[in-house]
Amino acid sequence: MRRLLPLLLLLLATRPAAAAFTFAGDVTACARDGQTVHLTLANARLDVQVLAANLVRFRYTQRDRFDDGASYAVVPQTWAAEPFQINDAPDACDLTTRNLRVHIAKHPCRVAIYDAAGRLLDEDEPAFGVAFDRGETRCFKRQLAGDRFYGLGEKTGGLDRNGREYVMWNSDTPAYGPDHDPLYVSIPFFMGVREGRAHGIFLDNPWRTTFNMGAGNDRLTWFGAADGDLDYYFIAGPDPKRILSTYTQLTGRMQMPPLWALGYQQCRWSYYPEARVREIAQGFRSRKIPCDALYLDIDYMDGYRVFTWDRARFPDPRRLIGNLDAQGFKVIPIVDPGVKADPNYAVAREGLARKAFATWPDGTPYRGEVWPSWAYFPDFTSPDARKWWAANVDTLLDVGVKGIWNDMNEPAVWGKTVPDVVRFADGDHRKIHNVFALGMARATHEAAWKERPFILTRAGFAGVQRYAAVWTGDNVSNEAHLRMACTMPQSMGLSGLPFVGSDVGGFDGSPSPALYVRWMQLGAFTPFFRGHSMKGTPSKEPWALGEDAEALCRQAIEMRYRLLPYLYTVFREAAETGVPIMRPMFLEFPNDPACYERDAQTQFMLGDALLVAPVLSEHERARRLYLPAGRWLDLDGGAVKGGRWITVDAPLDRIPVFQREGTVVPTRDVQQYVGEKPTREIALHAFGDRARGVIYDDDGSSFAYRNGAYRLTEVTVERGTMRLRVLHDGYPQQGRYRVKQ
Ligand code: GLC
Repeated sequence: MRRLLPLLLLLLATRPAAAAFTFAGDVTACARDGQTVHLTLANARLDVQVLAANLVRFRYTQRDRFDDGASYAVVPQTWAAEPFQINDAPDACDLTTRNLRVHIAKHPCRVAIYDAAGRLLDEDEPAFGVAFDRGETRCFKRQLAGDRFYGLGEKTGGLDRNGREYVMWNSDTPAYGPDHDPLYVSIPFFMGVREGRAHGIFLDNPWRTTFNMGAGNDRLTWFGAADGDLDYYFIAGPDPKRILSTYTQLTGRMQMPPLWALGYQQCRWSYYPEARVREIAQGFRSRKIPCDALYLDIDYMDGYRVFTWDRARFPDPRRLIGNLDAQGFKVIPIVDPGVKADPNYAVAREGLARKAFATWPDGTPYRGEVWPSWAYFPDFTSPDARKWWAANVDTLLDVGVKGIWNDMNEPAVWGKTVPDVVRFADGDHRKIHNVFALGMARATHEAAWKERPFILTRAGFAGVQRYAAVWTGDNVSNEAHLRMACTMPQSMGLSGLPFVGSDVGGFDGSPSPALYVRWMQLGAFTPFFRGHSMKGTPSKEPWALGEDAEALCRQAIEMRYRLLPYLYTVFREAAETGVPIMRPMFLEFPNDPACYERDAQTQFMLGDALLVAPVLSEHERARRLYLPAGRWLDLDGGAVKGGRWITVDAPLDRIPVFQREGTVVPTRDVQQYVGEKPTREIALHAFGDRARGVIYDDDGSSFAYRNGAYRLTEVTVERGTMRLRVLHDGYPQQGRYRVKQ
C-alpha cells in the first residue's frame, strides 16, 4: 500500500477536475416577510412559504433570482394567510403551524419536518441536504425505516416505489415492458406512508426530473431536476386521502365529465370508411351491448392532416355524426399535435402566418417526423397559439363531435426526441417537453365547448386532470399488461389523476377469449372504460372473440351501466375532493398493514363501498383476496367476515366484487347508452343493519351543475327502512328510490 500511495496521488493530481456537487452550506441570514421566510445560504438561496397548516413550499436556487415564470401545474390562487410562529435562534430556525413544525438547522442548512405530535415526518440527509451541479439540483432525504413510497403517476411495477429510480420525461413507448420507465406521463409527486401516516412531496419543475426512492443504496432517497429551481411542496396528512386533497388543491381537480363518458367506449385504429363506423354502431345495438362512444383514429383525416377529413372515406361527417348521435353514440376523433408541413394545407399555412409553431433558435420553424411525415409542432406555451389551436378544435365541435382524443403529444417524433435547442415561447425544449401535452390539453379545453368537454390524452404533466382523462398508452394483449391495467390506474389515482384506464383487451397482439373477457371485467370497474386495438391485429370488439366471450362481455358492460348512479357519485367526489375513483386498498384502510401487501395491489376499492378483485389471468378460476375487518357482502353470494385473506371461486363469468358493510350503492336498470331511457327507479343496495350513502345527480352534460343545478341526497337505511335527506336540492329527483337488501 505504501508503495502504491504516491502513484495514486499522482493519478489523482493529473485527473481533470470532475463535475462535483456543491452543497447548500450554512444559513447566514433569515428574514420573515409575511408568509415567506427568506434564507440566505452560503451557496444558494432558500424561500420557505407557509401556504396552509399542512402545506409548505421550499424553493432553492443558486441564481440571483427565483424562476419568475408561472407554474404549469399549480393553479393560480390566493391562499388565506395561515398563522405560523417563527423562532429564529443562532443554530436553527423553526416554523410552527397548527399541523407541523419545520426545523431548519443552520450549520449547515438542513430541513426536518415534524407533525403536531412531534413525530418526524421527513428530513434531509444529514450529510448532504441540497446540492447543485451547474443547473442541476438535488434534494437528498434520509431513508427512514418503514417509509413506503407511492405515486409518481403512470409508472410500471407495484404500487410501492421503494428501491427504484424513476425519471420524468414523457416518452412514446409502444408495447412497453413491465419494468419500463419513463412512460408517457410525468407526475413529479409522491407520497410517503409510515404506520398509516402519510406525507406528500410535489416537485414543481417541468424539466427532466429524477426520483430515487432508495435505489442502489440503503442510506438516502433523492429527487432532483436537470435545471430550474428546486421548488417543492411538502404536504402533511396524516390521512393519505388528505394528502391527495391538498395536492389537488394545488394542481387542480377533474371537472365533472359528461355522464356518457362513463359508459363503454369503442375504438380501433381505425374504423373507416364511414360504412364501417355505421356497421360497428349497428353491431352494438343489434347485439344489445351497451356503448356510448365511437372513436375515429388517424385514418379519418386527409393524409394525416389534423383538422381535415378524408372526403372519400367520410364524405359527410356532419351527417354521419348526426346519425350516430340519433343512435346514442358520441363520436371522438383523434387529434395529434404534428401539423403536416405542406404549403397546400391551410392549417399549416395559418400556423406559420401566426407564428404558432416551435422554432429553431434562428427563427425558422422546427419540423419533426411523425404520422403525416414532416410536421410543425404548435407552441402550446403561447396563448396566441393556444387560441388558434382552440379555434381549429371548434371546427370539429361544429360538425358535432363530443370529445377529442389527443395522442402523440409527448411529443413523439418517431421514437426520437425534439432537439434541445428548439424554442417555445416559455423556453427551449428541455424545459417545455414534459408540459407540451398539458398545454395541448389546455388549448383543447379552451375551445368553444357547448357541453362539458371530454378530452382524452396520452401524455401529460401534473395538473392535466383539470383538462383530460388519461389512458395508459400502447399496451399488449398479455397477462403482464392485464395486471398493469389494474395497478397503473391506481398509481395514477394516487397522483391526482382520477379519470384513467387502459386499452381494454390490449392494443397490440391478439388476446385469447378468456384474456379478453378478464380485461373487459376489469375495465368495467376502471374509471375510463374503452376497448382499443392496433391496426393489423384481429378485431377486438366485444363480439369478435366468439359467442361465449360476447355474452360475458355483455354481462360485464351491463354491470357497468347498472352501477352508473354509484359511479357518477364517486366521480363527483373525486371532482370535489381529489380522492381517486379507483382506490388502492390502503387509501381506504390506511391502518391495515395487509392493505399495503403486494398481493392486495391487484384489488381495489371503487369509491368507498365496493371492493373489486378482478381475475388478472386467463387460466385461473379462483381468486385470493383480502377483505379488511368488518363484514362484506359478496355480490354473488352472502355476507362474509373480513379481516382475512380468502379465496373465492371465480369462473369466467364471475368478477369478485364485495360491498362494504354500512354502505348503500345506488344502481339503475341497464340502458344501451346514457340517456336512452328515463330513470324510473334507483335501487338502493344497503348492506348492514345500518347503512348510509349519498347519491349525486345532475343533467349529465351541461355546465349548470357549477351553478348549483344538481341534487345530492343522503340515504340512510336502518333495518329495511329508508330515510332520505336532500342535502342539495338544485335538480329534480330522477325516478323513485327503492331499497334492495
Ligand atoms: C398511437 C396511439 C394509439 C393509436 C395509434 C394510431 O400508437 O397510442 O392509441 O391507435 O397511435 O393513431
